[in-house]
Amino acid sequence: METLESLHHQVRVCQWCILSQSRKNAVPGEGPERADIMFIGEGPGFHEDQQGRPFVGPAGQFLNELLASIGLRREQVYITNVVKCRPPGNRDPQPEEIHACRPYLERQIQLIQPKLIVTLGRHSMAWFFPNAQISKIRGQPKKIGGIIYFPMYHPAAALHQPKWRRVIEEDFKRIPQLLREIERLVEEEPSAPTRAEQLGLF
Ligand code: URA
Ligand code: SF4
Repeated sequence: METLESLHHQVRVCQWCILSQSRKNAVPGEGPERADIMFIGEGPGFHEDQQGRPFVGPAGQFLNELLASIGLRREQVYITNVVKCRPPGNRDPQPEEIHACRPYLERQIQLIQPKLIVTLGRHSMAWFFPNAQISKIRGQPKKIGGIIYFPMYHPAAALHQPKWRRVIEEDFKRIPQLLREIERLVEEEPSAPTRAEQLGLF
């Protein structure tokens, strides 16, 4: 049976897309195999590529502060990205790269079985909700197939935009309550099938 460790290893040696040619280190993700909360960013930046670990640069510092603000340590949550290798110059990941990398995130979700998936930024949101606009759905939890999806702005964007910083801080504060109330949250009836459902994940 596949373990998170063997999946991480496959990512580290993966050559399924062109990002493998410019990366220093692939960044599979890190955290416990049975984390309740999974954070999904966009893709590794400079520091992540150097170290092979997710969210270790300035955005990661802010993420650590946000976690601390709700009494969580990094080691208690699982953190990963939509693409596991750094797009050169931090450009947006291309659709074909996101497509090539998709099986890894699918398997991470299946192995970890989080209760709450927090998407950080537009690309991560679009992985699950391709037709949504982040300004419209951020901060709105959606329960689908027993999992709560909670879209937020990206912490890197919030670092440069004081007004988004406040928004992400406020959104973050709702996480403990969402976890407590997961049983009581009503399931969504999505008008369009979500990416997760299209993929047959749930
Ligand atoms: N930004 C991301 O989206 N992911 C990281 O791992 C770091 C910065
Ligand atoms: Fe493989 Fe994903 Fe890295 Fe592309 S981004 S090489 S698909 S691990």
